Amino acid sequence: MKVSIIGAGNVGSSCAEYISLKSIASEVILLDIKKGLAEGKALDLSQTSTTLGFNTRIIGATNDFSLTSNSDVVVITSGVPRKPGMTREELIGINAEIVKSVVDKILSNSPNTIIIVVSNPMDTMAYLALKVSGLSKNRIIGMGGALDSSRFKTYLSIAMNKPASDIQGMVIGGHGDTTMIPLTRLATYNGIPVSDFLSNQKLSEISNSTMVGGATLTKLLGTSAWYAPGASVSYLVDSILNDQKKIIPCSVFLDGEYGQKDICIGVPCVIGKNGIDSILEIELNKDETFKFNKSSEAVRKMNDALDKIL
Ligand code: LAC
Repeated sequence: MKVSIIGAGNVGSSCAEYISLKSIASEVILLDIKKGLAEGKALDLSQTSTTLGFNTRIIGATNDFSLTSNSDVVVITSGVPRKPGMTREELIGINAEIVKSVVDKILSNSPNTIIIVVSNPMDTMAYLALKVSGLSKNRIIGMGGALDSSRFKTYLSIAMNKPASDIQGMVIGGHGDTTMIPLTRLATYNGIPVSDFLSNQKLSEISNSTMVGGATLTKLLGTSAWYAPGASVSYLVDSILNDQKKIIPCSVFLDGEYGQKDICIGVPCVIGKNGIDSILEIELNKDETFKFNKSSEAVRKMNDALDKIL
């Protein structure tokens, strides 16, 4: 199976690293516009294969989309990342043009691919990719919810002092500091509600930390995070290429689900060989529904900025 990653910055190279290390794909193509960057990262990463024990062939190139031909999955990480103090939304003008041109080039080489969108603002970029590509909605997946859920579960595991892999939880809504919705009510430690272990105040603190999870890292690192975003992409790619049908919150085009239309936003999805296999419509309570509608409004408003480009 072949996976191409567009953008060999921190996030793109981290995606390549986890996909190779976990032997999820037989071939990984890494592209960047900066001369030598993707080549260098691919070569460096390839040289870990003998010591780490994987056989994925990793090829890096400067902007040569012909190498991506017939990819099963293409990951778009292109664009500029956040600087400290910036919101994901502020990136829209620059990243929209980049994502649009990248989508065109991807599809002329891999017309049957599934596209994972990572570039920010992620929900709007997923919507843009869907509109400019004309692809069916199952083939465009925005990655944000997978990442936000992993941050949520990590904060829960730390607060409860329980193993991270025993924690279940989802974050839905937009991939923004004020738009994401950690579903605290449904989070569990091996099926036991987390509210059995943590006070309401602690849960609300965890929710808040999750929502600003990316901003916290941007402040610490001076640029946006890469390990957890790369790992979340690899988790999605694994579920697609191995048809695992995992439930992963992703930004997907809604056509009436959750009462929303013509928008890409995070909801629980079953991810398999066709990309979005189905959208899971779970029953939200009043408060969650209110937050979801508010989040949808904010994402829709952000999409208005695409008017010039669509
Ligand atoms: C983050 C970026 C990838 O949340 O959106 O770290």
